Amino acid sequence: MTGSAVLTERWSHWRQRVDDCLEQHLPAAGMEPAMLSEAMRYAVFGTGKRFRAALVYAAGEGLGATPTELDLPACAVELVHAFSLVHDDLPAMDDDDLRRGKPSCHVAFGEATAILTGDALQSLAFDLLARESSGYSAQTRLDMVRILAQATGSSGMAGGQAIDLSGSASSKTALETMHRMKTGALIAASVQLGARAAGAEDPALLEGLSRYGLVLGLTFQVTDDILDETSETAALGKMRGSDRRQHKPTYLTVLGEAPARRAAAQYHQRAREALAGLPMDVTALMALTDFVTSRHH
Ligand code: IPE
Ligand code: IPE
Ligand code: MG
Ligand code: MG
Ligand code: MG
Repeated sequence: MTGSAVLTERWSHWRQRVDDCLEQHLPAAGMEPAMLSEAMRYAVFGTGKRFRAALVYAAGEGLGATPTELDLPACAVELVHAFSLVHDDLPAMDDDDLRRGKPSCHVAFGEATAILTGDALQSLAFDLLARESSGYSAQTRLDMVRILAQATGSSGMAGGQAIDLSGSASSKTALETMHRMKTGALIAASVQLGARAAGAEDPALLEGLSRYGLVLGLTFQVTDDILDETSETAALGKMRGSDRRQHKPTYLTVLGEAPARRAAAQYHQRAREALAGLPMDVTALMALTDFVTSRHH
């Protein structure tokens, strides 16, 4: 089998695992308050790629962890990611009506419920990481909570979203900072969580994984920017051309399509190099890295 065929098989296995685990931990359909439970499930289940969960499994398994040991952090990153998408689509943010091929959470359930859905998904993510029954040591749980908290907050995703909304990013350097924060931080946290859940403690390894994750995140967001304008709504599951319509600063709208494609290729190469030097089995992470840019060819 080719590298990508092997990845496809492992990825669908990871997707099944993380979906089963999410099913187990999300409020059951109908649980009161029923509208909130329903909205949380609506925002989490569907056509999401589960790319961040895959990174948790790929990093963790590359360091010898079993899939079972990786389920909770994989769920946690997908919950934070789903929360970020629900809020990202709100009228006060990107004002997008379509997400993962269906009406955005606020369109389906109203703005107030969508705001609470994001809140509740985020809380559940940290609850899962902190659980005593999970088999991790107290120190490991604390480290995982900290890794995810820092990636989500004002120096990570939320901070990057604030820069995005301010519209101030008008140079490549500024775009890079914004993308590193709004998308890179959570992607870097995913690989670090996988490593930490696998028992890795070596600061040099965790730092190396973080550096890799940040540049992988840049590759991922620039690709998302390219696809926003060059792919079809049906394939994206979100509205084509939304960024330009909303006057969003992206690699495409600020620098143009050719420079955006060059930047994606350069970040991709840097991510491969950062990964290649790490003392672990990087096969699956390398395949996920290559997947990112294969999306816009
Ligand atoms: C979309 O992320 C938001 C970005 C950070 C670019 P994904 O492309 O991973 O979205 P899903 O989870 O597959 O829907
Ligand atoms: C999203 O960036 C980054 C997040 C932290 C959610 P975008 O606004 O480009 O994501 P999409 O294109 O709506 O999925
Ligand atoms: Mg946005
Ligand atoms: Mg958006
Ligand atoms: Mg986008």
